[in-house]
Amino acid sequence: MKLMSVNESILGLKAARNIYSSDGTLLLAAGFEVKEAYLKRLNEMGIYSVYIDDGVREVEVEDVVSERTRLEALKMTRETMTRMGAGAKSGIDEISKVMDDLMDELMANPAMMLNLVDIRSMNDYTFGHCVGVAVLALMTAINLGYNQFDLKKLGMGALFHDIGKIKIPDKILYKPGALSPLEWEEMKRHASIGFELLRERGDFNIVSAHVAFQHHEKLDGTGYPRAIRGQEIHEYARVVALADVYDAVTTDRPYRPRKLPHQAVLIIRDGIRTQFDPDIVPAFISNIAIYPVGTILVLNTGEKARVIEVNKRYPASPVVRVITAPGGAPVEEGRMVDLAKQPATRVVGLDGQ
Ligand SMILES: [Fe+2]
Repeated sequence: MKLMSVNESILGLKAARNIYSSDGTLLLAAGFEVKEAYLKRLNEMGIYSVYIDDGVREVEVEDVVSERTRLEALKMTRETMTRMGAGAKSGIDEISKVMDDLMDELMANPAMMLNLVDIRSMNDYTFGHCVGVAVLALMTAINLGYNQFDLKKLGMGALFHDIGKIKIPDKILYKPGALSPLEWEEMKRHASIGFELLRERGDFNIVSAHVAFQHHEKLDGTGYPRAIRGQEIHEYARVVALADVYDAVTTDRPYRPRKLPHQAVLIIRDGIRTQFDPDIVPAFISNIAIYPVGTILVLNTGEKARVIEVNKRYPASPVVRVITAPGGAPVEEGRMVDLAKQPATRVVGLDGQ
């Protein structure tokens, strides 16, 4: 299975995973051939990449949470946020239950690493992003040793960190190009708006509301809305700030393609101390498969090799299977190399990059 861009090159190939919209509608089912009509629909929906079955059985990649739970989280986030936006005071019991399911699954599999990109349509970006950030924030907090109570408060804050965006006009929220200074000021208000929305409800922990308030603050005091710094920023917000940036840059947007995990990790590393907490970054990065399973790597031997397994302790040194010889000739049943145990063999690039 491999991730491919949505264009003519995927016509006639089979989808490897189901793709849903945030209301639970199945847009493209795994195992079905991509026909002209599907391609058109994917383009219309603003879906830029899909997982395609390339016949390689060795690399079946699992999501860190089950498809059922991620879909349920997506649906409930959409419903709850829409209700909140309309001013409803109705409860958060259902979304709270989904949060428990997310936590249970992630805690049951602490060794799992993020290998998959969550495929979102343009209209589902906001809700998919909320769930993606919640999953990443929870994984990080589990590594940091949080107990269940703290995880829940963090998880709810992460899921609703961008709730304030429901009050930002669509023409600003979905503008394909750069925002004008005035539009940017308007966009930045989502942090304070979100805080007020959650705070006045009474069924949200105040700390979760503060995640919405503080998730764009930066360690060096150059963030917004209050330009607070360092430890003044609540730890939950420091965790969510990382998850937020990572999830955003690794997702396709109308105006730019997604960054690959190793590029996104560099962006995070560049922001250590100025933007991100140096004590939290390692706990975050250890969840990320820098070279996800299925990626084709170029080795310093001149060979190309497919990633078969990711080593959580040495994320930049996965287990690979060689698929082409140094001259480029395909290799049948190529040898397996554990790059963590073969320091002389190194990754020098990605195929096609
Ligand atoms: Fe935000």
